[in-house]
Amino acid sequence: MPPAVSNSTTRLDVCPPARKGVGFRLESVELVGLRIHHPKFYLHQVMTDAFRDDLAYIHDAGFGGLARAAGPVLVAGLQRRGFAGGLVVDLGCGSGIVSRAVAEAGYDVLGIDLSPAMVALARERVPSGTFRVGSVIATEIPRCIAVAAIGEVFNYLFDSENNAATLAALWRRIHAALVPGGLLLFDVAGPGRVPGRGPRRIFAEGDDWAVLATLEEDATRRILTRSITSFRQVGELFRRDREVHRQRLLPPTEVAEELRAIGYRVRVVRGHGSERFPVGLAGFLASKPKRSRSGRWVAEPGGIDEAAGLG
Ligand SMILES: C[S@@+](CC[C@H](N)C(=O)[O-])C[C@H]1O[C@@H](n2cnc3c(N)ncnc32)[C@H](O)[C@@H]1O
Repeated sequence: MPPAVSNSTTRLDVCPPARKGVGFRLESVELVGLRIHHPKFYLHQVMTDAFRDDLAYIHDAGFGGLARAAGPVLVAGLQRRGFAGGLVVDLGCGSGIVSRAVAEAGYDVLGIDLSPAMVALARERVPSGTFRVGSVIATEIPRCIAVAAIGEVFNYLFDSENNAATLAALWRRIHAALVPGGLLLFDVAGPGRVPGRGPRRIFAEGDDWAVLATLEEDATRRILTRSITSFRQVGELFRRDREVHRQRLLPPTEVAEELRAIGYRVRVVRGHGSERFPVGLAGFLASKPKRSRSGRWVAEPGGIDEAAGLG
């Protein structure tokens, strides 16, 4: 990994883009509004204060439904393929809900998330797992039997280097790291995630928390902005916090095409197990095909096929 510089809100990596041997390190910088335009160097800025303590807690308490449904789907897929053990990588692992399902089924878990608050929850939930704080975009993927990225992980723009090219490169690294027959399970937000015209306001609450969010979709730029105000009870009072999350919306047909071009077999799904997706969300159950000795594709157990069948 390139050297990083930290401050309270952002982490900055300054990296030579292509050639080895040219290194550059910034010891301290004023981040806001800083741009370096130079062919040899680029700035890699990662927001490390997204999903801070309160929103991490609230996401875990009130918005873990997709992850709770996805864990058993992944475990069942691995069991059908005959994987009794091995490493599962949980990208954007959040509070470790998928990781726990996988660990309880006897697999090893590596979780990566850029939110320290989320990683702390995941470590608490899955003591046997290995969890790292970091961005998934440039991360190395170790040899593994499956990779999960549940909850629109690939859409978030917390990492300034998340773009079409780096995401495709990540999917290629995952493909290279998967053992034959291995699985990649994820979901993404696509255009139309915010139904209707104009901003949409939503409200949700639990016993000791509440969130108000405004969702705006820029259809031309395919950018979704969620402005989230959270309230979490601390003693007698409720603490207020605010986060703004931006996402790059990914059309499901383009995602499926890209995955197939890399060599995955792809099934586009409408939900994780019994948990149906809300409008604008699509799921992908992709596998790295096994080849027979003759070099032909081997049929996958469990129905992963070439057709983008919505299931
Ligand atoms: C909506 S939450 C889902 C968490 C978890 N997978 C679940 O389903 O409960 C999205 C997670 O992705 C993480 N995330 C987003 N972009 C990331 C990146 N570039 N690298 C690592 N984690 C990222 C966030 O910090 C957050 O925990």
